Amino acid sequence: MKRIIIEGNRTLNGKIKISGAKNSAVALIPATILSDEPVIINNVPNISDIDALITILKFLNAKVIRKDNSLIIDSSKIENKEIPEDISKKLRASYYFMSSILGKYKKVNMYFPGGCNIGKRPIDQTLKAFKNLGSVIEEKDNKYNIYAEKLIGSEIILDMPSVGATINAIFASVKADGKTIIKNAAQEPEIDNVIEMINKMGGDVKRENGTTIIINGVKSLHGTTIDVIPDRIEAGTYIIIGALIGKDLTIENIIPKHIESLLLKLKEANVKYELKKNSIVLNKSDKLKPVNIETKGYPGFATDLQQPFTVLLTQCDGVSYLTENIYENRFNNVSYLNKMGANIEIIDKTIKIDGKTSLKGTTVVATDLRAGACMVIAALIASGTTIIEDIDHVLRGYEDIIKKLETVGAKIIKEEI
Ligand code: EPU
Repeated sequence: MKRIIIEGNRTLNGKIKISGAKNSAVALIPATILSDEPVIINNVPNISDIDALITILKFLNAKVIRKDNSLIIDSSKIENKEIPEDISKKLRASYYFMSSILGKYKKVNMYFPGGCNIGKRPIDQTLKAFKNLGSVIEEKDNKYNIYAEKLIGSEIILDMPSVGATINAIFASVKADGKTIIKNAAQEPEIDNVIEMINKMGGDVKRENGTTIIINGVKSLHGTTIDVIPDRIEAGTYIIIGALIGKDLTIENIIPKHIESLLLKLKEANVKYELKKNSIVLNKSDKLKPVNIETKGYPGFATDLQQPFTVLLTQCDGVSYLTENIYENRFNNVSYLNKMGANIEIIDKTIKIDGKTSLKGTTVVATDLRAGACMVIAALIASGTTIIEDIDHVLRGYEDIIKKLETVGAKIIKEEI
């Protein structure tokens, strides 16, 4: 287990460059299975979730070359083997192999995927999509045997706009016979990055009216080159840091449209920022005002940013309410923030944050990826020294987070225990 020790209360100044989006890259990599030729993916973040996906590709006998932030993946001659449970359990995105292997071979055996411990994360919508396309699904002991004589284009109406189910439905239908219509599809930009790649490989996928995606099945897909879009959640995390302790802290390589809902809330909280074409400059804002937030699917306020944003709410003068609508248990950060001096109460799926409270360094735990990011922000603004245990969770999703923060003036020590 790794832990980091952060000396807080330092002003951060300089530039931080945003990496490729984790949640895009983790879908683009399994999508290469659908191609009959090598695919080049650029701007892939160097994080442990990507390592896990490469392990799966290599297990399936794909050829993978990794150079800096680029991957050349030749999945044309993979073996359709059952991925061991200990590997697929490492991350949620392993289930994108379920749909890409099914889409290519009409048959897949796979275990239930893993992912952060933030509440129940069923895959019923993905399974419904597979069934609609003509698959038969047998489930036993956490394992799914899925096969189809033929995948046939169909209408798929999702109960909720699930990111994973939308991507899985695309992968399973891209080579199906005929037309598939996904209704109530998720609108996250990472999905459009996936659609861009599939179309560059010769697929025929388009989004209509935001929440409808139409896929016309094609016989085969070929190689291409694709860039991973910048990570809007990583960007949001550093932007929040800039609003709390920045001095002309510049966050580069952002797509402003992807962070609109965050910027609106920052404005409401009285955060001053200067937005440019692909970057944003932040300064520590005094007199932060309380704001109320509800997490929603894109373009609403991202659930993945609510835990980082909670730190900012502890510094607002007055009471803020934050409601988590996507996950049932994404408040593991709250007890540790309270241990540092915050005044936060959990009321069902809402937290009440009574600010402003000064935070003091202590020992806390990164219980999951975004809770960990929350603890890093809290430690950076706290007085004294904070020890964050289980920092591996954060390293799963933030490329070079320690180096990026040190470059702008943070004091962080990493320890292996
Ligand atoms: N849901 C169902 N049934 C399903 C699918 C989803 O009930 O079949 C529920 C889930 O339980 C959850 C909600 O719908 O309560 C949203 O789930 P969704 O499928 O949209 O999420 P996901 O695809 O599992 C991705 C990201 C998450 C991010 C969500 C929402 C990846 C690998 N993960 O998860 O990212 O929170 O979309 O935007 O892309 C993170 O990066 O920290 C993270 C957890």
